Amino acid sequence: MFNSTSWPKPVPDAQVLAATPVDARHHKTPKPIAQQTEAAGVPIRSIGVSHRERIAAHLLALEPQDRYLRFGYVASDEQIHRYVDQLDFDRDELFGIFNRKLELIAMAHLAFSGDPNCINCAEFGVSVSKSARGRGYGRCLFERAVMHARNEGVNLLFIHALSENNAMLKIARQAGAVVKRDGSESEAHVHLPPADFDSRMTELFQEHVALTDYHLKAQVKQFWAVLAPLQELRQGVRSAHSRFRN
Ligand SMILES: CC(C)(COP(=O)(O)OP(=O)(O)OC[C@H]1O[C@@H](n2cnc3c(N)ncnc32)[C@H](O)[C@@H]1OP(=O)(O)O)[C@@H](O)C(=O)NCCC(=O)NCCS
Repeated sequence: MFNSTSWPKPVPDAQVLAATPVDARHHKTPKPIAQQTEAAGVPIRSIGVSHRERIAAHLLALEPQDRYLRFGYVASDEQIHRYVDQLDFDRDELFGIFNRKLELIAMAHLAFSGDPNCINCAEFGVSVSKSARGRGYGRCLFERAVMHARNEGVNLLFIHALSENNAMLKIARQAGAVVKRDGSESEAHVHLPPADFDSRMTELFQEHVALTDYHLKAQVKQFWAVLAPLQELRQGVRSAHSRFRN
């Protein structure tokens, strides 16, 4: 769900909380990166203006119920196009997971706050294609976004979700988020620790791996695209040969 124009007010004790390690505040260990799932090591790359079409295709493929969960209302195709057209790639950060055909199968939007009362805040939104759910991609995107947010100096991350959105709220809770339910809607916020050497190096490394993976997939796709007409030609010659013999 997204409404980056009206940023929630930071909770009154935000500064106190921000100085307290996440684990100590919530007395539980946030769930680590989806190491136990097949998503471990899934390449997640940042995506930019050149991916607008793929972003639109991914979002337009979401069913009404998923559009409702993602945006807080059943976004029409036109509203999705408007959302995609208005994405600000200079201000915000978007992340994507691509399949072999280079279709965008999961994406996250980390929107940085423009509110002077909440300058170190950001909001997270995510969607995973139906066929790719339950593999840990949602959680991995969340963790990728958290790392980037930390490295950009964000210390408070918001997630707006419908109260019925168990998957999203689970991801948030397991990351140590405080979830406040307000009827059909819930707001989760998680305090992020400051960036450190590890978060910076890990982000650089993961981005590099993801870009390499993306370019390899692009080359393979191109290779098959070149090969396909040749295959057709070969097939045509073979059929002509067999017709000639008969
Ligand atoms: C929410 C969403 C992103 C989750 O993506 P996903 O890749 O399927 O989630 P993951 O596989 O990372 O699962 C995360 C956790 O949620 C749990 N989960 C997944 N689907 C669930 C469901 N329908 N009900 C309850 N829990 C669920 C998983 O078991 C996992 O918990 P675990 O690690 O303890 O096993 C995806 O369902 C989606 O795109 N929904 C539509 C858009 C949306 O709701 N966006 C969020 C609002 S911004």
